[in-house]
Amino acid sequence: MKPLIIANWKCNPLTLREAQDLLSSVVSGIKDSDNSEIVICPPFCFLSSLINDSILFGAQNCYFEDKGAYTGEVSALMLEDLDCKYVIVGHSERRSLFKETNQDINLKLKKLLDSSLIPVLCIGENREDREQGKTFEILIEQLEECLSGILKEKVNKVVIAYEPIWAIGTGKNAETEKIEEVRSFIKDFLIKKFDKDTSDKIRILYGGSVDSNNINSYLKEAKMDGVLVGGASIKSEEFIKLVKSI
Ligand code: PGA
Repeated sequence: MKPLIIANWKCNPLTLREAQDLLSSVVSGIKDSDNSEIVICPPFCFLSSLINDSILFGAQNCYFEDKGAYTGEVSALMLEDLDCKYVIVGHSERRSLFKETNQDINLKLKKLLDSSLIPVLCIGENREDREQGKTFEILIEQLEECLSGILKEKVNKVVIAYEPIWAIGTGKNAETEKIEEVRSFIKDFLIKKFDKDTSDKIRILYGGSVDSNNINSYLKEAKMDGVLVGGASIKSEEFIKLVKSI
């Protein structure tokens, strides 16, 4: 399977015009590269204007109810209707700034697994947890609670993104040996919780200060199935370089 490269634009850029320019530079810059599956996740307000057949699209979040009195929310079914393919859930910024819990994320995952959308579940420890040696404990808690009640028959569609919080947007990307260790840990967790076949099918990505210089160390040395890219995905030249360097 080709590496999965997810561009998380977060709350950028400011205008639709800038978003269209960024998208068209990226699309034309990577048009001859078919070395990876590339997904662009713009802010909700730009999604319906940007979506077209030249590249795959994803959303940065969704709500677990279908429709109704939920001011400010966008449901998974609305995204499905837009021909979005992926939806990021449980990003650490959603967890820390918007107080999303593992239980909220679990409901979102269940809703997405009943749709045609592919969920990208983000997990990761913060600096304090890491310094106290609690990385695996935190990951188990996130995985257990986010995947609670999800059947083996459905779960293999989920993509898991390991994003250590201390590496996000800091330029302090994690060492590849540590990432490889976490990858094996997640795979073992999935074997115990589901089975080997399911674990083999679930793609695991790395995210946190990925750029054109370090991407291959994650894909090759740490054996990740892809990456989630924030800052480097909104600089078209850097993102094109990153894709071409795979
Ligand atoms: P970053 O963000 O690449 O800017 O570290 C990654 C993310 O938050 O998904």
